[in-house]
Amino acid sequence: MSNRSVKDDLLVALGTEVAGYGFYKHAAGLIEDDHGKNVFTHLAKEELQHMQVISSMLDILKEGGGWVGYNSLVQEHPDAAQGLPIFPEENELIDKLGKNPTDQSAIEIAMESEDYAIRLYGDMLGRAESPEEKVFLTELLEMEKGHLKLLRWELESLKGEGFWCDMMEFSVEKELG
Ligand SMILES: [Fe+2]
Ligand SMILES: [Fe+2]
Repeated sequence: MSNRSVKDDLLVALGTEVAGYGFYKHAAGLIEDDHGKNVFTHLAKEELQHMQVISSMLDILKEGGGWVGYNSLVQEHPDAAQGLPIFPEENELIDKLGKNPTDQSAIEIAMESEDYAIRLYGDMLGRAESPEEKVFLTELLEMEKGHLKLLRWELESLKGEGFWCDMMEFSVEKELG
């Protein structure tokens, strides 16, 4: 694995983002609770942005270009995620939810997937060579950590109180606005 290239790593990351996005879209459609639906819609929106950013970064690296900041990629390549296989035939996360289609199970599957993404970006960050590459990966890593934190919060609320929590650190509704 040691000779895996940065581009190979980014392709793996892109596949993870595609699966996460498909799962969140799917789960948002199943969850009846309005707040729960908002949480998953918000996460889907951010994973779609990750797809956009990674896809455009890959194109730039393939053309011999250097690392670009996350926000610049978001602004300058708005259509980069178009044409990606948004709903691939195989989505392990969706299959797993199908076996136990409850709100709690949706959160737990999402947490596993976020945990995987955190480890993936953490590993990539450990192998990163340039400061620009580190900045790019740190941005993604921190966002995935935020996703896990949000999900953990919702899981605790659902298990403890029996309902989705709306006292979040940030307002999902505002973010969606
Ligand atoms: Fe992501
Ligand atoms: Fe995420």
